[in-house]
Order: sequence, then structure tokens, then C-alpha cells
Amino acid sequence: MSEIIASSEDPLIPMAREVIQHARSGTMKQAPEVMKLPAAHYTDSVRFNDELKKLIKRVPIILGPSCEIARPNDFKTLSVAGMSLIVTRSEDGNANAFINACTHRGARLTKQENGQRRRFTCPYHGWSFSTSGELLEVNTQDDFGEINKCDYGLKRLTVYESAGLIWGVLDPNSRVNIPEFLSGYDNVLKAFDFKDWVYVSKRTFKGPNWKIAYDGYLEYYHVPVLHRETFGSDATNRGLYFAWGPHQHIKSPSNIKDHIATETLGYMANLIDKPERDWDKESLTYGVWTVFPTTSIASFSGGGRGVMISQILPTDTVEESITTQYYIMEEAPLDPEASEAQFDFFQQVVMEEDYATGESAQSALKIGALDHVLFGRNEQGNQHFHSWIDKVLEAESDEELNSVLRNAPRYENS
Ligand code: FES
Ligand SMILES: [Fe+2]
Repeated sequence: MSEIIASSEDPLIPMAREVIQHARSGTMKQAPEVMKLPAAHYTDSVRFNDELKKLIKRVPIILGPSCEIARPNDFKTLSVAGMSLIVTRSEDGNANAFINACTHRGARLTKQENGQRRRFTCPYHGWSFSTSGELLEVNTQDDFGEINKCDYGLKRLTVYESAGLIWGVLDPNSRVNIPEFLSGYDNVLKAFDFKDWVYVSKRTFKGPNWKIAYDGYLEYYHVPVLHRETFGSDATNRGLYFAWGPHQHIKSPSNIKDHIATETLGYMANLIDKPERDWDKESLTYGVWTVFPTTSIASFSGGGRGVMISQILPTDTVEESITTQYYIMEEAPLDPEASEAQFDFFQQVVMEEDYATGESAQSALKIGALDHVLFGRNEQGNQHFHSWIDKVLEAESDEELNSVLRNAPRYENS
């Protein structure tokens, strides 16, 4: 990909400059080739299990926005690839993630989606654990003799919190270096100041294979066709891509001002006639921000400045994914009911347009209707995504993967 920002300059300005240049001249940058991807990459369960082991569980994935568990003792649960997790904010202010299983005999500690608790008491025999995972109490401890409580804390995942987002690594044996993996992208995302934002709402629903679902977040080609009722048939179908390691940002080189898709797709047209010193940070952050391999962030402006963070997670089967849309806003919404109605609408669009279409493609791939799918020179984001999946799967050791990541273009400022 040619449009990589690898300098220490704040990348928002040069990206907007480049997008505006293309908007003015009606030009585009494209991938050098059309990509053919074997259809089996979406349907083969051996390949899928490899993806779970060598990608999803091995590299850091986003577990949620920091503001979802803003206060000490806040917690949430989620399920990834069949693993149930608890993410907590402990008294010391740190984010933690644990396997949601009691260390006595494995019962699930809590089914609650979100909440506030000082301790987790197992519903089976009553062992209890602190929000930082220590075993606090064994019910009728005499029956266990000299049990060393330190040996029976909750199983902890490595967690990394930066830019108001929480990443976790599911495989405790993974040696993938988190800052190398992020390639400085978390420092680019700091432009949003998510750490000071407010958690408003979330929606969770099923979709097709996780990569079929995720492909829809990586290109604008489908927007004026599939989403003509939502964004209009005059919406852009072109994206300009910027990448840091495996992570990407997409903006639109359109010159239509005040288009309904301005925030979501990142139209820079409203900045065209303004001197650079008047470019506002909010407009500069518009567009799609993907965090490899499972997250996509897009702006909206209904009822205040906000983003929808879509987390597309595989389940334990190749044919199904679970998406959680987190809605977070710079300020609490003035009209919460109107905001909820807007979030319901976004959910419907994704379910009824993107995922329903993705499911139809999945059925065709499953019966062998195609032996490969195509990504055009305009679908550069998908090409980047799939080639990074291959790079990760091909890296035999974590050291090898760290070295591949180290050599990828990155953002150096912090
Ligand atoms: S399984 Fe949790 S206390 Fe027994
Ligand atoms: Fe879409």
C-alpha cells in the first residue's frame, strides 16, 4: 500500500491534504493488482481453527472502550471464540481481564453483561474473588486444608489500555509484542481522546463468518448500491486508505459538501475551502478506523459527537460471528431516547443490509458456487486485511511475527 504515513508528524493533517487533493482533481490511488482469495478461506473449518489459534487468540484484540468500565469495580463480560471473559476495573484504576471461570471447579462466575461489584462470588459453592482476580475466600476452608490462595486466583489475560481502548490477548502463552503489533496506531487514535468520552449504549447481534462480516467494513464500493436508502445513491464508492502495520484508516475523496455520509465515511469536502489553520480536529477524525483484526470505528453526529465501535468476533464455528456495537460519545447525549432510536437504526442497517447480504454470499461459498472471490483495485482495504491474515498465520513463531510487525510501517510519535 503506497499511502502509508510513517513519519512522526501528526498524521491527520497530511491525510486530509492528500484526500482533498484527490477530491479536487477527481483522482484516486488504487492497489496495483486485483486480488483473488480462495473461497475456502471463508468456509473451511480447518483454516478457521487456525485463525482462532494463530490470530484471534494470539494477537491483542479490543475488548471494549475504557469508558464502558470507567469507575473502579465496574466490570463487563463478553464471549470470544467460545471463551467467556470478565473485564474489570480494579480499585487501583487498572483494567484487567480474566477467564470467566471459578478456579475451584470451573463454574461461570457471572452471566451479567455489565455491572459494579467489589467481589465475584461463585454461584456453585461460593468461592469469592476480587476485581483484580485474587481468591479472597474459600467457603468452609477447613475442607481444603492448607490451600494456598495465591495459586487459585482467576486466570488472567495480558491487557493493554491505551487511547481509551482496552486490548487483551486470549492465549496466555502468546509472546506477541503489543506495542509492535499496534505499530503506533493507538497513538494516532489518541486524536479522539476516547479516554474522556462517555459510554452510552451497546447492541449485540449475530452475523455470518467473521471475515465476511468484516469485509463490509473495509470498502466503500458497496455503499451507494447496498445502502442507497441510507446514504443515497450519490454516496461515494471510493475510499483512500492509510495504513500502520495491519491497521487502516479510510477517508473519502469526494467533493460533495454536507453529504449525509460525511462523518461515517470521512468526507473531507467541508474542509476544501478552509485554510488549514481552521481545520477542526473533529472533521479530521471522520472516516473509518479499523483496528486489526476485529474492530472498526466510525463517527456519527446525531445528538452530539460520537462513534460506533463495531467489534466483530468469531464464535467457535466458521459460519457465525457476533458483533457488538459500542456507542460512545464525547458528552452524554442531550436526548437519550433520540440517540437510542438512532443506534437501533444503525443496527438494523448492518443486520438487514450488510449481514443479510453477507449471509447470502456465505451460502453460495459454502456450496462451492465460486472457487475464489475478487477484491478490485478499489478494495484495497480488504486486500490489506487478507494479506495480513496470511502473514500472521504464516509466522511459525511469535518471534517471527514480532519481526514481521517490527518491519511494517508504523507511527512513531507518542
Ligand atoms: S466451582 Fe466455584 S465454588 Fe465451586
Ligand atoms: Fe455496509
